Amino acid sequence: MAETDVDLVILGGGSGGYACALRAAELGMSVVLIDRAELGGTCLHRGCIPTKALLHAGEIADTARESENFGVRATLEGVDAAAVREYQEGVVARLYKGLQGLVKSRGIQFVQGEGRLTSPTTVQVGETTYQGRHVVLATGSVAKTLPGLDVDGSRVLFSDHALKLDRVPASVIILGGGVIGVEFASIWRSFGADVTVVEALLHLVPLEDEASSKLVERAFRRRGIKQELGARFSGVEHTDGGVRVSLEGGKTIDAELLLVAVGRGPVSQDLGYEEAGVALDRGFVKVDAYCQTTVPTISAVGDLIPSPQLAHVGFGEGILVAERLAGLPVVPIDYAGVPRVTYSDPEVASVGLTEVQAAEKYGAEAIKTFTYDLAGNGKSQILRTAGAVKLVAEKDGPVLGVHMVGSRVGELLAEAQLIYNWEALPGEVAQLIHAHPTQSEAVGEAHLALAGKPLHVHG
Ligand code: NAI
Repeated sequence: MAETDVDLVILGGGSGGYACALRAAELGMSVVLIDRAELGGTCLHRGCIPTKALLHAGEIADTARESENFGVRATLEGVDAAAVREYQEGVVARLYKGLQGLVKSRGIQFVQGEGRLTSPTTVQVGETTYQGRHVVLATGSVAKTLPGLDVDGSRVLFSDHALKLDRVPASVIILGGGVIGVEFASIWRSFGADVTVVEALLHLVPLEDEASSKLVERAFRRRGIKQELGARFSGVEHTDGGVRVSLEGGKTIDAELLLVAVGRGPVSQDLGYEEAGVALDRGFVKVDAYCQTTVPTISAVGDLIPSPQLAHVGFGEGILVAERLAGLPVVPIDYAGVPRVTYSDPEVASVGLTEVQAAEKYGAEAIKTFTYDLAGNGKSQILRTAGAVKLVAEKDGPVLGVHMVGSRVGELLAEAQLIYNWEALPGEVAQLIHAHPTQSEAVGEAHLALAGKPLHVHG
């Protein structure tokens, strides 16, 4: 049996694992990076990147369809699903090639194979044992389903299947109105499908500030996306044309396809984790604020641990672990300060606390909010997008949360995240002049108003 000794063995080559590998190599460590599939993981091959390509194709379809609103005569002839997929796969392929080159250029050894943790310092792949001074677990997550709900990949799909679909379905039911559900609802509606979202809680994107959820629901209603909110799924049966979904209470909905988007769960079973002494909690690997597991020589990052399941959180955790192992000073991640974007049309972007969370933490009387409607923003009117920028702040204190809805607002989040993470006062942000006409002015205007000197705001 062959044995390879290195500083760091990383199991899982997705966002968390490869970010850790790149930073560790940069800091002079020898690194082996192991993945059973392609380097890049869910985000690159089955998540963030291909879905955003689909959303962009959807935006182009909508632009063609709505061109008359801008005085331009164009007609949408249709959506060629195969060509859209080719475009989507082309984007992924270029990024994949770039990532492979990057990993190689840093001298990281990438091993493609099924790895298993065999001790606090070893991972085995086939006949080879990789011994590390330290091991990082980064095996990610997979889509979950509900008890009794069989996902067959042809009529009942997970997002992985949806990305490989060879046609635009005539109609779709989406189970789950979280991030994946809302993004796919947006994609398929843009492509011309009849879409119904079924969400058990009372709102779409229920983790967002309620004001953001309501704006998305309104925008989706205008787009003709049907919504069953506060509706619990009770069963699905196959019909001649596709599926019939029943809800608790007796209502049934027919469609060609059902997409199951009720969350993702950690990949931690049968990989030797518990046998090596790594404690799990509902399948998630338990870690401290520095991503160290209950075994001192093992760390864990990304969707495998109970932090927000976002690629950029994985990047941040991977970097933190590499720097800690290299002996650099590190600080725990403030997860509330991580920016969040749902890339539907309209986009939903936020950082910091919702109004409800801020009221719980500081007391309702200690906070204030202001909502700036994009109706007052020149660039948003040019784009014909509706939405708002909502601020939550401590009275006489810093900004605690920024919540935005509208086309392209994800791009405004970079400034919002600086404001939150640097604990800026509304008055300080109000001093900054924003370029006119940009959507970023809406962020500036909201802070002007909160600082008591509103400009384009009705009294
Ligand atoms: P999610 O947790 O965001 O949403 C799942 C939704 O399903 C919840 O709103 C939940 O209330 C609902 N649900 C659960 N059981 C249900 C039932 N029986 N009937 C009806 N509704 C039910 O999970 P999702 O959307 O699957 O995404 C998985 C992860 O991937 C998330 O953590 C998300 O943040 C991440 N992701 C992030 C993206 C982004 O940052 N743009 C894009 C896509 C995914």
